[in-house]
Amino acid sequence: MCGIVGAVAQRKISGILIEGLRRLEYRGYDSAGLAVISPDNSLHCIRTVGKVQVLDDAEELSPASGTVGIAHTRWATHGKPEERNSHPQLSGKNIAIVHNGIIENFQELKDEQLAKGYVFTSDTDTEVIAHLIHEQWQADGKDFFSTVRKVIARLEGAYGLAVINTDTPDRIVVARSGSPIVIGVGIGENFIASDPSALGQVTDRFIYLEEGDVAEVSRDSIRIYNGKEKVSRKPVRLHLDNDEVLKGNYRHYMQKEIFEQPEVIRNTLSGRISKSHVLEKSFGIKAQEILDKVKHVQIVACGTSNHAGLVARYWIEGVAGLPCTVEIASEYRYRKVLVPENCLFITISQSGETADTLAALRYAKELGYCGYMTVCNVANSSLVRESDFSIMTFAGREIGVASTKAFTTQLAVFAVLSIALAKRNGLSAEDEKKYVDDLNQLPLIIEQTLALDDAIRELSHDFGEKHHALFLGRGAQYPVAKEGALKLKEISYIHAEAYPAGELKHGPLALVDADMPVIAVAPNDELLEKLKSNLQEVSARGGQLYVFADTQAGFQNNAGLKVINVPHSSEFLDPVVYTIPLQLLSYHVAVLRGTDVDRPRNLAKSLTVE
Ligand code: AGP
Repeated sequence: MCGIVGAVAQRKISGILIEGLRRLEYRGYDSAGLAVISPDNSLHCIRTVGKVQVLDDAEELSPASGTVGIAHTRWATHGKPEERNSHPQLSGKNIAIVHNGIIENFQELKDEQLAKGYVFTSDTDTEVIAHLIHEQWQADGKDFFSTVRKVIARLEGAYGLAVINTDTPDRIVVARSGSPIVIGVGIGENFIASDPSALGQVTDRFIYLEEGDVAEVSRDSIRIYNGKEKVSRKPVRLHLDNDEVLKGNYRHYMQKEIFEQPEVIRNTLSGRISKSHVLEKSFGIKAQEILDKVKHVQIVACGTSNHAGLVARYWIEGVAGLPCTVEIASEYRYRKVLVPENCLFITISQSGETADTLAALRYAKELGYCGYMTVCNVANSSLVRESDFSIMTFAGREIGVASTKAFTTQLAVFAVLSIALAKRNGLSAEDEKKYVDDLNQLPLIIEQTLALDDAIRELSHDFGEKHHALFLGRGAQYPVAKEGALKLKEISYIHAEAYPAGELKHGPLALVDADMPVIAVAPNDELLEKLKSNLQEVSARGGQLYVFADTQAGFQNNAGLKVINVPHSSEFLDPVVYTIPLQLLSYHVAVLRGTDVDRPRNLAKSLTVE
């Protein structure tokens, strides 16, 4: 989603704002802008369409020399990516605002402002907030903080926002409701952002605003209110490793992140399994108390994280013997849900800020589950803070919009969790050891699988000119096929769909011809023979098959079938292993097609609006 940065300092801050935006660019990149209060108390505002570099170039031509300002990188919701729709949005000569989220009652408020004579120059919902603040300030004219709080009380929807006023040039007012805002605490200077990673170059101390918080930030003071109540929020120290975000020798972040998987899976498993068993204490006391009660599991997530949930279902039902349901968060949150007894509610999210998943958690809390757990990659994120306990994926920061290492580390967590739940359901020590042995082998097998990179790059040439592709899998490989199709869609813009292979004959087979590549994942599992029969149906219709198969699965190359042998793993962990070649395939196809691999069009890394 969009990114916000702001600074109140004694030094020139335009460089800090632009560097912060660059770090947030993975969240939104249609357009960017900044507004800085100049030494003569006028607003210096620059807005550009395109990436942050365009803003940087514009600022070089028209330098902003002030010490207080706000900036934004945008992922369009209301209004096309045009200069007039970029943020900051202005009202009068004094008010500038940047905003993430969506104001649901903006049309009603806009009509009201239009009737009062305000002229709108953009299609954004944000401009209405600027005019409301302007009007309220004209009426109050004393305490800008209380002006903003009055206006915010009228907004419906989700927002994280930051506003400055040249009449009160020493402060920024920020507010959080459904979209995150942090305050970066400095010495004699303070900062604000939608994500702490924007501020890693200036501070390591952060105050996370809670839902409903509004704060006034000046160089040497921070006032926070929640409703009418003054509140105090403790700063936390975060070690944001700047080296981690460098691409190193890789061409793209996504490529780097794919190759980091052996290491991050090792990190995620470390301390959670020994040589022979799951180290449950690593989940924390609260987790153990809750897990002891669990008789049913409900998983809710979006996109790739939802696919991790779909794989997890096979493990929670197949290994742990507990019923498990998985649902897309944006559907769950609006449905009448019946909650089974002793049901554990689990959210999965790389960012921990996905609006639909967060709303689903809040709704679930109203319904009453026996506990709320999240599998997340960002410590201190909203999902982590609002859950009873979390099991973190130690994937490190994921920059590529297309999720890769976050997915496989989510799977690693669920593999461990399903063993822990299975023990409560009578799993023997001997069987536990077998599963744990498999897990201990996993990083090595992933390393071996990554060695397929050259062969897959070669194969990618077959897809360069294609417009569609089908992905097939059976059992726990079906969600893996779904994830493979999502990756291909996201970064190469090829239309791709995934089906359980047995479903082909019920419709999608009609699509198969020589122009439709069909990609199948074929580990040597109990459904292999069934899958082979399904693939015969494709061959018989002249379809071109690409089969990622276990060395022992017995596939032979022929004119209509290309086999890519994948290192042998265990049936338990095949879903993790078979994800890797599909990630590599989508990566190489995207590179071949010249798309923006790390920042695919129309997408954002963290969707903090509905
Ligand atoms: C992954 O490649 C996608 N960009 C997307 O589906 C993502 O997984 C989804 O938006 C959920 O995000 P989250 O894991 O941060 O909640």
